[in-house]
Amino acid sequence: MEELRRLYGDRFILHVGWMFGSVILASDPEAIQQIFTSSKFRSTGQATRQFTGPFLGTRSVVSARGERHRRKRKLLLPPFHRERLQTYPQRIRELSDRAIRQQIPGIGFSIRPLAQSITLQVIMDVVLGECANGRDRVLREHLKNWSEAIASPIVTSSILFEPLRDLPDWTPWGQFRHLSETIDELLYAEIRHRRSHLDPHRPDILTLLLQARDENGDPLEDDEIRDELMTLLISGQETAATAIAWAMYWIHRNPSVRDRLIAELDGLGPDPDPLEMMKLPYLDAVCSETLRFYPPTPLTSQFEATEPVEFGDCLLQPGTRVSICIYLVHHREDLYPEPKQFKPERFLDRKFSQYEYLPFGGGSRRCIGEALATMEIKMVVGTLLSRYRLEMLTQMPVQPRFRGFVLLAPDRDIRFVCLGRR
Ligand code: HEM
Repeated sequence: MEELRRLYGDRFILHVGWMFGSVILASDPEAIQQIFTSSKFRSTGQATRQFTGPFLGTRSVVSARGERHRRKRKLLLPPFHRERLQTYPQRIRELSDRAIRQQIPGIGFSIRPLAQSITLQVIMDVVLGECANGRDRVLREHLKNWSEAIASPIVTSSILFEPLRDLPDWTPWGQFRHLSETIDELLYAEIRHRRSHLDPHRPDILTLLLQARDENGDPLEDDEIRDELMTLLISGQETAATAIAWAMYWIHRNPSVRDRLIAELDGLGPDPDPLEMMKLPYLDAVCSETLRFYPPTPLTSQFEATEPVEFGDCLLQPGTRVSICIYLVHHREDLYPEPKQFKPERFLDRKFSQYEYLPFGGGSRRCIGEALATMEIKMVVGTLLSRYRLEMLTQMPVQPRFRGFVLLAPDRDIRFVCLGRR
């Protein structure tokens, strides 16, 4: 992407291939403002459907568009508001402590799976809460294996090319298919159980979905609820776990950043209040710089011109598709001098607009889980650094690499060792 921008500038056409056609990739704030605010662009959800449909289903918020999409967001957004998540900082801290205590002292561990065990538990709490017959425990194990399986290139190729989906059971695709079926059975069993024992006071999202009504006043069907649950369970764990892994990597590669962060955390005393930790300015800046450097989701989904529209020097015809390259925006020299340096201070020195800094996307598709994700990154990083003596074992520079379809993840394990409590 950087090479293409060097050759062709801030807006260029990417030919994705015969299956996916062409899309304009834009990375300048003027274009982004226009795409997010002009009524001549609408979000399609189409590419998302193509990529994620085979496993997230096609009836969830990420593939919906128009009025249906708006209704779904209205339903799903309130439980993810910061005020509704007040008890989670404490919960995330407990989970972080537990995850570290499960490591054998002096033996190395990989940070991404550790972070993922925390983010998976958090999103399961929010979305499902406690399930009948210990089903949540089984589901958690399967979801963990599922997100490992989807990183396999054979699995991603099979999702893209339908003929490959007949591969036998012993192949990675066959195992992924089996895992997906098992997860579906568990989700459907839980949906049916909760429907027949509905407790309207439970705070989880499944309860919310069971009580929701569609545009005709009918309850949502089990298939739609399953797609919604699966979408949240998957989007809610991988992205945040990846961000935590990157944050830990950058902090430990930059001793001055680590020292300043530890000093700030120590300023809160030996047993800091989680809500106070959430307000620390340097921790916030480290989190922002992490999401700037390698945004876990480097591209937004596609927007489409609904009528002829002037776009810089071009006149776009209806149906022309545009996507925003978040990664390229975040590496603009004019906005972020020395963009290849990890410098949290830049977020203390100036404020960036929503068209200059957008790790969570924007417009009508802005991430639903933004508040939860930033809480997770800050609380996990803050707890690990303030309470434990950690050393990064990985010495070689780590590069970003696509994992699954949309995630910009570390290309190798980032390993740490815990040398005890601080
Ligand atoms: C650091 C963590 C995260 C990052 C960087 C991130 C990034 C993004 C981005 C860039 C989008 C917009 C995609 C588009 O243009 O279509 C998005 C949408 C979305 N995110 Fe996140 N996300 C994160 C965490 C989460 C979490 C914890 C949840 C759990 C609820 C979540 C749920 C969603 C959903 C459901 C959408 C689709 C919204 C829609 O289509 O209206 N994300 N996210």
